[in-house]
Amino acid sequence: MYPLRRNRRLRTTASVRRLVRETIITPDDFLVPLFVVEGRGVKEEILSMPGQYRLSLDNLEKEVKELWNMGLCAVLLFVKVPENLKDNKGAEALNEHGLMHRAIKAVKNSCPEMLVMTDVALDPYSSFGHDGIVMGGEVLNDETVELLAEMSVSHAKAGADFVAPSDMMDGRIGIIREALEDEELTNVGIMSYSAKYASGFYGPFRDALDSAPVDSAEIPKDKKTYQMDPANRFEAIKAVEMDIDEGADIVMVKPGLAYLDIVREIKNEIDVPLAVYQVSGEYAMLKAAAEKGWLDHDTVMMEQLTAIKRAGANIIASYFAKDAVRLLD
Ligand code: PBG
Repeated sequence: MYPLRRNRRLRTTASVRRLVRETIITPDDFLVPLFVVEGRGVKEEILSMPGQYRLSLDNLEKEVKELWNMGLCAVLLFVKVPENLKDNKGAEALNEHGLMHRAIKAVKNSCPEMLVMTDVALDPYSSFGHDGIVMGGEVLNDETVELLAEMSVSHAKAGADFVAPSDMMDGRIGIIREALEDEELTNVGIMSYSAKYASGFYGPFRDALDSAPVDSAEIPKDKKTYQMDPANRFEAIKAVEMDIDEGADIVMVKPGLAYLDIVREIKNEIDVPLAVYQVSGEYAMLKAAAEKGWLDHDTVMMEQLTAIKRAGANIIASYFAKDAVRLLD
């Protein structure tokens, strides 16, 4: 008798497909990245990221209320720092009245239960567009880590629930954890960008914040001496394990779609929540193709988000969060 087992039986109707579906996207999966600028009433669309905006604090307050009402519960904040406040050491990053500090308070003021995570790295504050202090043609590690620890403490004091170091310096998780403990900020968590690759997919993000490395003979023109080589996998597992040993509460792989082999491999090894960042270039690619009518936006968006979760993500940082939740409704 040919064939007794027919795989298509479990695909015959929408109901049976629902019943056997293994991966389901919900609003709880998302961490929503938001870009903040100075000013009032500002809502500037980012050219290479249609549907994403730079928001002034008043509009940030409105946005987080809307997100909360849609069922989204966590945001990841990035600030666009005015050019005249940038320097090599990112001094503005420690200003307790700085934009990030006011943004954290604005979110908590508007929506106290919204979980706030903050980006910790020097690049938006750096006159060179690097994630650390530049000297002698190099991005310094240990000196940068000291600043990142101070920056983390200042974000935590302003009300951040988690700090998210995205810089890829060595040893920073341990030093940040110690600094938080010294200040008795014991409940403030660390989401570490542990396996962050030197990727071309960050282009639109650097447009959004005007934070690309500057073109000059004296400084590194890319981030390859600190972000990982896209060709490597052993290194990713090692980096994640080291960050967990140093006290990371959540670890991250970034970008998403092109690195799902890494996501699954790490997921199989670790026992802390794993975040995946579906980055700006991934967002831009689909928006552009959909605009041209070459891909169906919603179908491909859900397929990509599902693939990220199926690969092992417990948390997805994604610019598609609102689009996806609207579609789920
Ligand atoms: C900065 C930072 C970057 C992103 C998040 N934090 C850019 C970079 O490392 O150059 C990229 C996010 C995205 O592309 O959406 N430390």
